[in-house]
Amino acid sequence: MVEFALPRNSKVNRGKTYPAPKGAKRTKAFAIYRWSPDTEENPRLDEYTIDLDKCGPMVLDAIIHIKNDIDSTLTFRRSCREGICGSCAMNIDGTNTLACLKPIDEVKGTVKIYPLPHMPVVKDLVPDLTHIYAQYTSIQPWLQTQSAPPPDRERLQDPDSRRKLDGLYECILCFCCSTSCPSYWWNGDRYLGPAILLQAYRWLVDSRDEMTGERLDSLEDPFRLYRCHTIMNCAKTCPKGLNPGKAIAEIKKMMVARA
Ligand code: SF4
Ligand code: SF4
Ligand code: FES
Repeated sequence: MVEFALPRNSKVNRGKTYPAPKGAKRTKAFAIYRWSPDTEENPRLDEYTIDLDKCGPMVLDAIIHIKNDIDSTLTFRRSCREGICGSCAMNIDGTNTLACLKPIDEVKGTVKIYPLPHMPVVKDLVPDLTHIYAQYTSIQPWLQTQSAPPPDRERLQDPDSRRKLDGLYECILCFCCSTSCPSYWWNGDRYLGPAILLQAYRWLVDSRDEMTGERLDSLEDPFRLYRCHTIMNCAKTCPKGLNPGKAIAEIKKMMVARA
């Protein structure tokens, strides 16, 4: 069973409070969204006050410290702690970002942490990404060709063609953008959203790919592509500094150019 994360202004019950450890000199409070499919209880915000001298400088360091030393039931995803894997994406202090790249001291007062908004929640800070990964699969994110490959080497790409992938290949599929996009909130069942469309564009502009027409055909749909209203929340929130809204605009231009 999955449940939807509540919007930030909805009522979430006050949960348990974990006071600062005795003797702590530098303390910081973290209010963290908790919800488990194993109970009938509503979501709650647990508040942990931690000793900053016991953990590293990033929000992910604090969450790991809480799990290791204070409350082992806290559940979240993480892997690389370097901003590479995308798995620690969550809503921190009102913004979707990567916990491993967010310095604790950038947040004034209590650090409020929720799962990525408007996604089903598996548990606590873990969103259910089944649907968005199915959407990713639907754009066939791999090189597709019809011509025979060169017999003695890989398919080459000149530097100018390669540069067209800059600003696209860096995407780590953290989904901070899609979950900040109002169009995706309301139409995510059919609209592909900024992350998946940026990936679609990455293959559309790859000079080695030979299925451009088919790729555009599959996007030519009032919902899959055209629900983007250029609100640009996606570019504002991307922790890698990418601009999915621009990539979407470029796909629309390609549609017009071939019409
Ligand atoms: S520019 Fe498009 S994809 Fe980005 S947030 Fe706005 S509507 Fe969503
Ligand atoms: S475009 Fe940015 S925010 Fe969106 S999935 Fe890729 S890295 Fe994450
Ligand atoms: S843990 Fe990999 S991006 Fe944060």
